[in-house]
Amino acid sequence: MKKNILIIPGDGIGQEVTTWGKKVLEKIGENYGHEFSFDEAIMGHTAIEATGNPLPDETLEKAKASDAILFGAIGHIKYDNDPSAKVRPEQGLLKIRKELGLYANLRPILLFDELLDASSLKPEILRGTDILFFRELTGDVYFGEKNRNEDNTFASDLMNYHRYEVERIARKAFDAARTRNKRLCSVDKANVLETSRLWREVVQEIAKEYPDVETEHMFIDNAAMQLVKNPKKFDVVLTANLFGDILTDEASQIAGSMGMLASASVGDGTGFFEPIHGSAHDIAGQNKANPLASILSAALMLDISFGLQAEAKAVTNAVAETLKAGWRTGDIANANTEASKILGTQEMGEKVLEFVR
Ligand code: IPM
Ligand code: MG
Repeated sequence: MKKNILIIPGDGIGQEVTTWGKKVLEKIGENYGHEFSFDEAIMGHTAIEATGNPLPDETLEKAKASDAILFGAIGHIKYDNDPSAKVRPEQGLLKIRKELGLYANLRPILLFDELLDASSLKPEILRGTDILFFRELTGDVYFGEKNRNEDNTFASDLMNYHRYEVERIARKAFDAARTRNKRLCSVDKANVLETSRLWREVVQEIAKEYPDVETEHMFIDNAAMQLVKNPKKFDVVLTANLFGDILTDEASQIAGSMGMLASASVGDGTGFFEPIHGSAHDIAGQNKANPLASILSAALMLDISFGLQAEAKAVTNAVAETLKAGWRTGDIANANTEASKILGTQEMGEKVLEFVR
């Protein structure tokens, strides 16, 4: 198989971690006889520094022309503490999602047994958890009209959804539920929000096409609570952009660390694969970041964009074996981890590569 992959390292630890996602893809290419060619582009703070634009036209063109994109992370503390900045790194990510029509963000909560004790939740609550989030990604309050009055005493963000936006992601989520445990929980705030009432109505309609899937509707506040109380009760979770953003950060703690979770953003064209963690400037450039989320994002690319299930499995197995052998980065180590088993980004990446069959 021949594929063109675009690497966008982005900001902070994005640079370090995508190196390892890419190396794993190269290794898979060699082992399985695929021709993966790589190009690179800039986005985020890095792109603002170089061009003044968080998503330069050149990056967007390369993205559209590629078969899949591996992205690192976005953001810089400089902007976090300056809410008045007009140009912001995150605008690059939001724009590329919109331009590529990446309306479905899949965030699997993949739990490795070896990391049961890395979570702050009790192992017996966690064991057996397997959740796949479908977060809507190109609508909601993220893209609605924004306003601020002249004397800075009022601001608003419009939360809006079109029926077709709910329909298309709902279908994807129901299709996925069919291949899993056939349970779907749609999360909204229909007791308060009109957008949520439309959301619920549409999901109820689509559910009729999937009588074999058990559908449940839950309010976001309750879902946030149930997720830590009894995460095993969830199979596929379908939710809107903002709710999904918050809920998946919470869910990352089930997997032990933000450093473990990969995500796939898909629509009708090129797929976009990225860790759910941020740019973590506090540890950037120090060889401390966990490369596993980037490596697992590469596995999602192989599976979802290229349909290479065996190759994807080879990557997740390599991660599982690395963990089984006791290797940890700092974020997934605990008080019982021997110091000699705690590795830097590069050493952890090399371990995974050794295990890729
Ligand atoms: C995510 C991130 C982004 C989001 C930010 C960086 C814009 O938190 O991908 O979850 O809110 O979507
Ligand atoms: Mg987020």
